[in-house]
Amino acid sequence: MFGLIPKYVFLHFMRIDQKIYLAPFQGVTTYTFREVYTSFFTGIDKLYTPFFTAVHKAKSLDKKGAGLNSVKQGGIGVVPQILSKDADEILRFADYCAKKGFREINWNLGCPYPRIANKKRGSGMLPFPEEAHKILLELDGKLEIDFSVKCRLGYYSDEEIFPMIDVFNEHDISELIVHARIGKQLYGGSVNKEVFGKLVDRCMLPLAYNGDIFSKADFDNFSESFGLVDNWMIGRGLLRNPFLPAILKSYELPSPEEQKTLIYKFVTTLYLAYRKKTSDRLHAISIMKEYWGYLSCSFSSPQKVFNSLKKTRTFDEYEEAVAAVFRNYDWQAN
Ligand SMILES: Cc1cc2nc3c(=O)[nH]c(=O)nc-3n(C[C@H](O)[C@H](O)[C@H](O)COP(=O)(O)O)c2cc1C
Repeated sequence: MFGLIPKYVFLHFMRIDQKIYLAPFQGVTTYTFREVYTSFFTGIDKLYTPFFTAVHKAKSLDKKGAGLNSVKQGGIGVVPQILSKDADEILRFADYCAKKGFREINWNLGCPYPRIANKKRGSGMLPFPEEAHKILLELDGKLEIDFSVKCRLGYYSDEEIFPMIDVFNEHDISELIVHARIGKQLYGGSVNKEVFGKLVDRCMLPLAYNGDIFSKADFDNFSESFGLVDNWMIGRGLLRNPFLPAILKSYELPSPEEQKTLIYKFVTTLYLAYRKKTSDRLHAISIMKEYWGYLSCSFSSPQKVFNSLKKTRTFDEYEEAVAAVFRNYDWQAN
């Protein structure tokens, strides 16, 4: 649908049984993004959707658009995510997704934003293991498909994860994906390798690592520290450099010049897909600007690249600014 798919040759390094997951980003890793991304790049093994919420009736899910209509995108399995603290709502969501043919849903216990966390949702649930336990008891044995959890190390403190892990260990959870920060950090500060390292020993469930993998060197560093972890979820690193999963899997990459050409085609295809999706409304530019906040990091002078796009107001201005970026700046992803 979106043109030729580059196929890279598998060489060595990352173990064949290690998997890379696309992290969910509300407003960024949309259905459209996943569709276009997977038509250009290789290396991702599973795609997690940004969270769904307010599943008051199964019918309300029919109105949530394309996000829940494809169990695979580019041949890769999609995992719908739910943000909720209501077992019935989670069961309704799981049932709907199972009927649609999805093989897994994911529970969001990581969202850090106070308006969500203050209501004990997202990472706001992490200081309350007994409440999570109650919800999980109501889910055990009732889901027809896998149920994974994505969480942080805590909301206020990284001590919170330990009682929570003991709770998770007791329940039917197919995998635990941990972003190694606490909620209060939002996305700042550094990940806590020490605490995550302790989880590797204490967690009896399949465990995936998430947080600050921006390069092969970062990945090597984390995988040396957490030898027993097989699965890796990547967000900003992939948004900045869409080749990152292929790099981590040591696929053969196009030359830097060819990479730049491919990135140009990718952002153009994404932009046109959003124009179509929004019926040619200028909102398409706002969505692309948000994505450029990440992609600009891989060009020489990221700030100049981002500023030149940020001020565009019309389709013509946006297209000209993008053309100028590819004319004037180098693609410097590692
Ligand atoms: C704008 C934005 C939106 C996000 N939306 C979600 C979401 O819907 N669900 C979720 O579990 N995590 C969400 N995250 C967190 C990311 O999935 C990921 O856990 C985080 O960025 C750390 O991984 P990274 O260092 O590889 O980016 C979001 C993060 C950002 C910055």
